[in-house]
Amino acid sequence: MNELDSLIDEARARFGSAVNPVELENAKALYLGKAGRLTSLMKGLSALSVEEKKSQGAAINLAKQAVEAALQARRSELAEAELQRQLEAEALDVTLPGRSVGQGGLHPVSLTLERIERLFGSMGFDVAEGPEIETDWFNFTALNTPEDHPARSMHDTFYVEAGDDSAPHLLRTHTSPMQIRHAVQHVKRHRASLDAGQGMPEIRVIAPGRTYRVDSDATHSPMFHQCEGLWIGENVSFKDLKVIFTGFCRAFFESDDLALRFRPSFFPFTEPSAEIDIQFATGPLAGRWLEVAGSGQVHPNVVRNMGLDPERFIGFAFGMGPDRLTMLRYGVDDLRLFFDGDLRFLRQFH
Ligand code: DAH
Repeated sequence: MNELDSLIDEARARFGSAVNPVELENAKALYLGKAGRLTSLMKGLSALSVEEKKSQGAAINLAKQAVEAALQARRSELAEAELQRQLEAEALDVTLPGRSVGQGGLHPVSLTLERIERLFGSMGFDVAEGPEIETDWFNFTALNTPEDHPARSMHDTFYVEAGDDSAPHLLRTHTSPMQIRHAVQHVKRHRASLDAGQGMPEIRVIAPGRTYRVDSDATHSPMFHQCEGLWIGENVSFKDLKVIFTGFCRAFFESDDLALRFRPSFFPFTEPSAEIDIQFATGPLAGRWLEVAGSGQVHPNVVRNMGLDPERFIGFAFGMGPDRLTMLRYGVDDLRLFFDGDLRFLRQFH
């Protein structure tokens, strides 16, 4: 075996034992690099005669081709092995069951709020939202609540440090402050027309949202929801309130034989006032009167605080508890379940 043949064999063996591209390229340098063996042989040709150059040159070239072919073959082998390794590492078992994308869903109380908004929306009511941190004025005073009213006590109301503002701030205890906030905006928008003695479009609005009280048991949570309703015009009557609220309750509970009762009551911001009770004709609660809202004719002092003349404008308001409506609709008997955040409970409403 001549020198070139053994060089080719040796190169093949080295390439064969290279286990990655780096080792292979290093092995290549031994033969084909600048100082490689084949390169040196080529350089050595210059010292030979023309005849020898021809025969030796041709032989070296053949050897070079053989070495390059071996190199190329090993490169392909290594690339193929690498691809195989990757495929194995990233193997997908297409027979495994898929992982479902959690879709989530709305909280039952949110479902109720949406339902309330949709039903009142269909009766021409706007939806307004307002701040949960309120001033004493909007939460109590403007609503005709006397200074010594028990609701103002620290036992019932969460007060908030007011910073450098001296006006007491609190977490709103009901959504009723939205009556004033919304009406004042409405009146402002129609001030010119009112001043010209031309009146204004009726105020018809609901205001759902979170409310807070110092209270906690199976039917009371320190944070709960209310939805206020307000309807003010020049020609509105208690009858309209009854029609609207009865229609709402029957639609909400999808029950045409639901009975309603307006029971005389007291609120500082309405006169006369009524508590609204409902009674199911069928189902587990059939026959029992269940309180769902407070309501009444807006007190003249409150109408005045809205910027309106109580001699001309008359209004009706109501405040209901969406949490309680949700409990009644789904038969839930502990309010705290709504706010514990336990998915086993919440998932049942999707
Ligand atoms: N704000 C009252 C409460 O939290 C509920 C209420 C009663 C709202 C009568 C009203 C109303 O608008 O007219 O207990």
